[in-house]
Amino acid sequence: MDLRQYVSEQQKLVDGELDRVAPPASQSPETIHKAMRYSLFAGGKRLRPMLCIEACRAVGRRMEGVATAACALELIHTYSLIHDDLPALDNDDLRRGRPTNHKVFGEAIAILAGDSLLTLAFAVLARLPVNGEIRAALVAELASASGTIEGMIAGQVRDIEGEGAQPTAARLEAIHRAKTGALLTASVRMGGIYGGAAEEELAALTDYGRHIGLAFQIVDDVLDVEQPSEVLGKTAGKDAAQRKITFPAVYGVEESKRMAARELGEARAALALFGERGARLLDLAELMVRRTA
Ligand code: IPE
Ligand code: IPE
Ligand code: MG
Ligand code: MG
Ligand code: MG
Repeated sequence: MDLRQYVSEQQKLVDGELDRVAPPASQSPETIHKAMRYSLFAGGKRLRPMLCIEACRAVGRRMEGVATAACALELIHTYSLIHDDLPALDNDDLRRGRPTNHKVFGEAIAILAGDSLLTLAFAVLARLPVNGEIRAALVAELASASGTIEGMIAGQVRDIEGEGAQPTAARLEAIHRAKTGALLTASVRMGGIYGGAAEEELAALTDYGRHIGLAFQIVDDVLDVEQPSEVLGKTAGKDAAQRKITFPAVYGVEESKRMAARELGEARAALALFGERGARLLDLAELMVRRTA
């Protein structure tokens, strides 16, 4: 199956699972369920769930039900985007090609929609029909990757506090490992944990995850400089306008692209252990670096 067809099938699979776990829009109070669904089904790339599913496949022991576990990552990610766009954070009007959640539902509902997706993510994991040890490990992994100790919130805090500060390599590294890298690394680790990975397999997935995590954010920063809003589906040029500490700000665009290519090479090397079973993880890494939105 070619990559484009594979990606579109995986996206359908993930969308179907998300639709199953999210309360229907007709559920009272309707507003909150409409707001959650508005952002969930706005056309995200579903990279994190796909990484989770493929990491599980690379380990090659159990696949059944992994798409449900993978949904927890998309729920956290979507919550983080709703909150990231709020006036108090990045103050964005456009997300996934549509007005941001707070523009449509107001700030109060947008905050609560983010909270609800966050809560739902852990409910989804808690209900997984897998052995208790694996379930607990998945919950712990997602909680720490989203959290304040080198997790996503740590990165978001540093990103906000870094606005207008001198863009140094050290600050940049501290922001991005946590802000985006933690959840992407957790995506592959959770797939591995779900699939019953041995220690060395989990270590290889972690290594791969760190490299693609960094590559992903380098590309996100470069796209913010190079692509128009219509292609991005989010406001272009925001990082410079808000004086964010980004890869292009510290290294320039060309060096940033070289860095992303180097990270891709490291990610490829980390997959050696899996042979053919890691082929899709390599495809996804390449896709993340080549993407235009
Ligand atoms: C965008 O993530 C936000 C960052 C973490 C930098 P994605 O580029 O994966 O966004 P969607 O899910 O496809 O909208
Ligand atoms: C957001 O990073 C990362 C999150 C944890 C939500 P950005 O602020 O760079 O994401 P975009 O560019 O708005 O998607
Ligand atoms: Mg931000
Ligand atoms: Mg933002
Ligand atoms: Mg960005």
